[in-house]
Amino acid sequence: MKLININNNEIYDFADNIKNGKLIVIPTETVYGLAANALDENAIKLIFKVKGRPQDNPLIIHTYSKENIYKFTKNQPKYIDNIIDKFMPGPITLVLEKQDIIPKIVTAGLKTVGIRIPNHSDTLKFLKIVDLPLAAPSANKSGKPSPTKVEHIFNDYQNQDEIYGIINGGECNVGIESTIIKCEEEKIIILRPGIINKSMIQEIVDVDVIDYNGNEILAPGMKYKHYSPDIPVFITKEININPQVLNLSYNGKIENTFSFNEKNIYSIFREVDKNFNSINIVLTKELTENKALYNRILKASEKS
Ligand code: TXA
Ligand code: MG
Repeated sequence: MKLININNNEIYDFADNIKNGKLIVIPTETVYGLAANALDENAIKLIFKVKGRPQDNPLIIHTYSKENIYKFTKNQPKYIDNIIDKFMPGPITLVLEKQDIIPKIVTAGLKTVGIRIPNHSDTLKFLKIVDLPLAAPSANKSGKPSPTKVEHIFNDYQNQDEIYGIINGGECNVGIESTIIKCEEEKIIILRPGIINKSMIQEIVDVDVIDYNGNEILAPGMKYKHYSPDIPVFITKEININPQVLNLSYNGKIENTFSFNEKNIYSIFREVDKNFNSINIVLTKELTENKALYNRILKASEKS
């Protein structure tokens, strides 16, 4: 795997390779993505293979403009312009009815597609050079924490020829994945919480914004184990004094604990494995009120 910066002329070689069916790792403001040409079924198959991703878990596509969102989706609700104008480029994914040009394998057979405009100048530039929609799940092996630094990608993928290279965009600013919203005519359903939250969305639309209740399977990926370090994660109300336990508290609010937040949580999950035998996250009201972060913590602590 080659590692380059966006200003390197090899970026055009990267663009040719992704057009020819190879995979490229792209930086985004949320987490790094493992990208392929969304219109090339064989390239999409490679993503599933390399990641070890279940076939029934759809991918989201990345593009650079509002016009392209309209090009790859259809029957957009009227409020969609408000959302695009306010939050995009940014850490939000719209689930809308897909146009036929998007292959079924991308959406795991669903009639809808997730689409977003990432807010990272390198990737916006790359998307414009390639000028194709790029399907990209987070660039981790299935079940592992998403990568927020280049070294995380090298840890997951060594000697993986299908991945031609990585665009080095530095550490991801946000650190957890985008908010995913299902945009229906009469309502908006938050399928995956992120830093763009319910009240921020509700403020600019006149339909109801509701949380996904988990009863129907609307976001197929949410049923799988996610974001897990190799050591177990427990959520408790107290500090654990065993020296082999890493105690974490949200924003370092509790003494003798290590501070975590959205930006560093996946790095901690990936980097502590060697030094501790478990992680104890001290539960606070402030943490439960941060729905996006609390969602990742709960999933990381699930046993299967
Ligand atoms: O921040 C992000 O969204 C990152 C960066 C790389 O853009 N991407 C990301 O992709 O988190 P991934 O594949 O790791 O998670 C996408 C989630 C999955 O849980 C999937 O099931 C859900 O989006 N999803 C994709 N298309 C969907 C659709 N049409 N309907 C419902 N859920 C969908
Ligand atoms: Mg993921």
